[in-house]
Amino acid sequence: MTDSILIFNLIKDIAPDEVYNLAAQSHVAVSFKIPEYTANVDAVGCLRILEAIRSLDLVDKTKFYQAGTSEMFGKVIETPQKETTPFYPRSPYAVSKVFAHYATVNYREAYNLFACNGILFNHESPRRGETFVTRKITLGLIKIKLRLQNKLVLGNLEAKRDWGHAKDFVEAQWQILQQPKPDDFVIATGKNYSVKDFINKASSILKLNLKWVGKGLSTKALDENGNIIIECDKKYFRPTEVDILLGDPTKAKKKIGWEPKISFDKLVEEMVEKDLEFIKKNNAKSFNKK
Ligand code: GDD
Repeated sequence: MTDSILIFNLIKDIAPDEVYNLAAQSHVAVSFKIPEYTANVDAVGCLRILEAIRSLDLVDKTKFYQAGTSEMFGKVIETPQKETTPFYPRSPYAVSKVFAHYATVNYREAYNLFACNGILFNHESPRRGETFVTRKITLGLIKIKLRLQNKLVLGNLEAKRDWGHAKDFVEAQWQILQQPKPDDFVIATGKNYSVKDFINKASSILKLNLKWVGKGLSTKALDENGNIIIECDKKYFRPTEVDILLGDPTKAKKKIGWEPKISFDKLVEEMVEKDLEFIKKNNAKSFNKK
């Protein structure tokens, strides 16, 4: 994404019918540590693809999808957030994504490119990276349950996210490019849950009977024997937090007939189940080696 010539040559060789720009430095907290790299990949990277399509005269052949994000709504101006809600980005990641959003709109308007933005709210699956909160929770709680780890240390437990399943959301991305006209869509479930809700759901599946004590940074979860198994650390808070996100997917439902099929409960169940298999397999491997 940081190499214009490579992108140009790839698009020239492939002459694709559809491009889905899902490439990103996608970790919000990490973007505060490496803001310039994040902007290079997430903002200018998108522009590199758009410009390659245009300069190769592929505007009538190639459709373009930009992976936008609910993080662009940031410190939300209204709730729920829809396509017309003004952006208020709160991280180098979100600022870069706002650039990519408007670059996509601009190439659509200036050059008639079939270019669309999907403004996707959080979408998770067993394939989620291990430092994003949902996977960090499922892996952490399972390791605690199997006595492979004592404690899980997290950041803002009160943050709320509109969590859907990646399978549903990828289908929406494809559907967006199959419409007669290019347009931008919010893709969300319309329900939100806190990080604490996610922990409670995953712990109840694992039959870990948590007891919550304290408030804010001193919130802790104790197990049945009174051991601290979850606590908070400031280092996992972002310099500017996005507290609550909730999407309104009405336009996607009306215009492209998209609706999420997999519920929050089913998502957590699947993630816990797959991580149990994953950890048991990995542990057996390292045990055999010894
Ligand atoms: N990663 C992480 N680690 N997040 C934590 C932790 C922790 O230890 N503790 C609490 N959180 C909170 C974060 O502050 C945030 O409010 C929420 O959990 C979700 O964090 P992430 O899973 O890191 O995802 P995100 O919401 O910041 O961003 C994801 O969703 C966006 C779409 O809204 C990423 O996938 C982005 O790339 C995507 O655009």
